[in-house]
Amino acid sequence: MSKKQIQIQTSLFDKEPVIFKPEKKSKTQIKEDVETLLQTFDFDNINEKNYKCTKCDGIGKKVILTDMYAIICNKCMQPLKHWNKPKKKAKKIIQDPILNKIEYSDITIDTTYNEKAQDTISRIKKNSIQMVLTSPPYDGMRKYEGLSFTEDDWKDIIKGCYRILQPGRVMVWVVDDEKVNGSKTGTSFKQALYAISIGFLLHDVMIYKTKSPSYPPTDDSNVYGDVIEYMFIFSKDESPKVVNLLKDRINLTAGNKNKSKAGVAGTYGIRFNIWEYSPGGSGTSSDKYASKHDAPFPETLAADHINSWSNEGETIYDPFGGAGTTGKVALLLKRHFIMSEISTKYIDTIINPRLDIVRNSLRI
Ligand SMILES: C[S@@+](CC[C@H](N)C(=O)[O-])C[C@H]1O[C@@H](n2cnc3c(N)ncnc32)[C@H](O)[C@@H]1O
Repeated sequence: MSKKQIQIQTSLFDKEPVIFKPEKKSKTQIKEDVETLLQTFDFDNINEKNYKCTKCDGIGKKVILTDMYAIICNKCMQPLKHWNKPKKKAKKIIQDPILNKIEYSDITIDTTYNEKAQDTISRIKKNSIQMVLTSPPYDGMRKYEGLSFTEDDWKDIIKGCYRILQPGRVMVWVVDDEKVNGSKTGTSFKQALYAISIGFLLHDVMIYKTKSPSYPPTDDSNVYGDVIEYMFIFSKDESPKVVNLLKDRINLTAGNKNKSKAGVAGTYGIRFNIWEYSPGGSGTSSDKYASKHDAPFPETLAADHINSWSNEGETIYDPFGGAGTTGKVALLLKRHFIMSEISTKYIDTIINPRLDIVRNSLRI
């Protein structure tokens, strides 16, 4: 339909829509006429269905203009009434700068970036990482170089990790809550629920159990010795695609006939989801550097997760590099890593020397 043509909406008058040209009158002219008419007409008292032209024997037709409707005489084009089109409610589009980021990548694997994780993530390609293994700051429990860590920070980082992970791949989030004014903060649960809300499946809630508590209970205590942290296993959009369950649990029924299947139970069964470690000293790391950091997780914990949820040659990202445990173990297990760590001191005095030892031993 050409611009000059106006479609008459005929529901009030005819069965079939009619297209007609407004002859000499332009839309602007019609509008102007309508404006004039508005001053003289008492529209409230007019029956819309029975418009009769005031200047000839024509009848009113409803026409649709760009932003208004008008009743116009079908013969002399005299505008009889007009009203504005109702404004359509704008659809609310959630433009999330992190989830919808147009990604580019100047990221190099096997590198630790000395910056906020949010900045590294923003340069990593969407759907490019096979696993995230990390442990965020636990509320305000430790003052890493005096840096703050807010709800906005962890939300941005969880969201960013979701974006860069391949669908069906896992993010392991090792976390605990601080006790403030007699109550655990519940931040870990908030993080888990937030992760679910943006598309992660909470595939499992695993427990990291230590052999003994950092603060053993005394006779004055009102709680039991705290020996657990959470290990949330999040999977992006769908169940994990790479799963190599560790089968090293001594099977108490070894040699017995299997109830459901033919054969006998083997010596080792698949692990349960409480994993026990003895952190501190050699229980955490095989080198002398890790203990310079306030909160490294044990290398064996990192190895168990990396073996469980990734394959050789894949890339594992740790947004909170800390002492560089993820990077070290990734290299030892023939994987690649990318880490972010905000503290230059940790990178210079812990992560780099630690990784140098591994690189020298592997000659890489
Ligand atoms: C719990 S530690 C991680 C320890 C690590 N899993 C390991 O085994 O070595 C958390 C680390 O995150 C760092 N950090 C805090 N906020 C950060 C951010 N926004 N981006 C990058 N690193 C951050 C802290 O400096 C700290 O070293």
